[in-house]
Amino acid sequence: MTSAAKLLRGKIAELVREYHAAAFPPQEFLPGQTPIPYAARVFDEDELLHLVDAALDFWLTAGRFAEEFERAFADLHGRRHAMLVNSGSSANLLAISALTSPALGDRRLLPGDEVITAASGFPTTVNPILQNQLVPVFIDTHIPTYNGDVTQLEAALSSRTRAVVMAHTLGNPFALDAVTDFCNRHRLWLVEDCCDALGSTYQGRLCGTFGDLATVSFYPAHHITMGEGGAVLCASPQLRRLVLSFRDWGRDCWCDPGKDNTCGRRFAWQLGDLPLGYDHKYIYAHVGYNLKATDLQAAVGVAQLKKLPAFVAARRRNFDRLYAGLRDLEELFILPESTPHAAPSWFGFPLALRSARARPGSATPPRQEDQHPAALRRQPGPSAGLPRRAAPPDRQAGKRRLRHDERVLARGLPRVDLGTDRLRRRGPARAAARVARPPRAPPCYSMIPR
Ligand SMILES: Cc1ncc(COP(=O)(O)O)c(C=O)c1O
Repeated sequence: MTSAAKLLRGKIAELVREYHAAAFPPQEFLPGQTPIPYAARVFDEDELLHLVDAALDFWLTAGRFAEEFERAFADLHGRRHAMLVNSGSSANLLAISALTSPALGDRRLLPGDEVITAASGFPTTVNPILQNQLVPVFIDTHIPTYNGDVTQLEAALSSRTRAVVMAHTLGNPFALDAVTDFCNRHRLWLVEDCCDALGSTYQGRLCGTFGDLATVSFYPAHHITMGEGGAVLCASPQLRRLVLSFRDWGRDCWCDPGKDNTCGRRFAWQLGDLPLGYDHKYIYAHVGYNLKATDLQAAVGVAQLKKLPAFVAARRRNFDRLYAGLRDLEELFILPESTPHAAPSWFGFPLALRSARARPGSATPPRQEDQHPAALRRQPGPSAGLPRRAAPPDRQAGKRRLRHDERVLARGLPRVDLGTDRLRRRGPARAAARVARPPRAPPCYSMIPR
């Protein structure tokens, strides 16, 4: 960089600081008036400085900030590898797609293989199972942890089971000792969806370090943000290479953007039916995607990651405060409980009515915009229609109905329902009955306001 360019960067940085102070002054909080969003990005001048720094590099694709972020993120987890991607949904798609690679031999996931997953959750935990022509097998929801009920794992097992893919619901770790033991005994892959659980620990160990692969989201609602963004964590160099291949168009070559011939044999490979010496940089071994993130996103992530310990502490404080405030209402509400041995870095505060009849003023639930703080409904997995349809009925955890999942759907609070107004007017009991029979053209959408 020329000295003139350096000088100008310094001046721009000064202006960015000034701009931040002018554009984002501290907001006065007026109890009962100031809306409290259910989640929001929390940032200061550091994020803006990083973002502008990356913009002035004008590298645009993944570069020095992506490298710094991946290193720091892997180190934080004590994992060998962290691969930056453009969303948590992409991270899930890559984690599962990687397991379908022929490079994994007899452990590769094949169409029709079964993947055990939890009934309540976010759609893009389950979607990649379907997108890879695998069969999701649902275990019911455990209340009040809202995680998959691990006592149903054995009932969900069949000769076709190859993997368990589950999210730590709203930051609450699922029973990792039971799940890892189950996976080890049956030689199953474990993918931890940690999109809601960055900073959560189980038996003192960070979530994301138990599974073969783990995924994280950096969408603004999440523990740290890059706007859009996500990551895959793993310990195995082979899984890293497979994730990168599926992320980067399916390529076989593992050189970073802008680099060539790091294998030292770029023109010496003999792969498949290709002629000897075919350029390795342009050999595509998988049916891949392009799910890379940019350096601008990574630059924001580098600044956010430094704030993670404070964010986690604030989330825990907020949870404790809400819990203490709602304790008197336990007669009405099932309050959330953390999984034994877990220290959640809470993403939200799950709440359900104890009885469908206990719904106060059930005919007129609060409107989203009237709420201080804002609340959102946890969207169900199978109840939304698509996965339930995809899973053969006899593979739903030993023919059992997903009773608790239906309960979460019917009694989760609040019923600020974006698409099922009619269900609400008919009353929760009938709504529960209705969801047991999926609608003919089932919707498959998120109810989280974005
Ligand atoms: C459990 C879980 N998995 C995956 C995702 C998807 O992450 P993203 O929004 O970054 O695609 C979310 C999003 O909130 C989530 O809650």
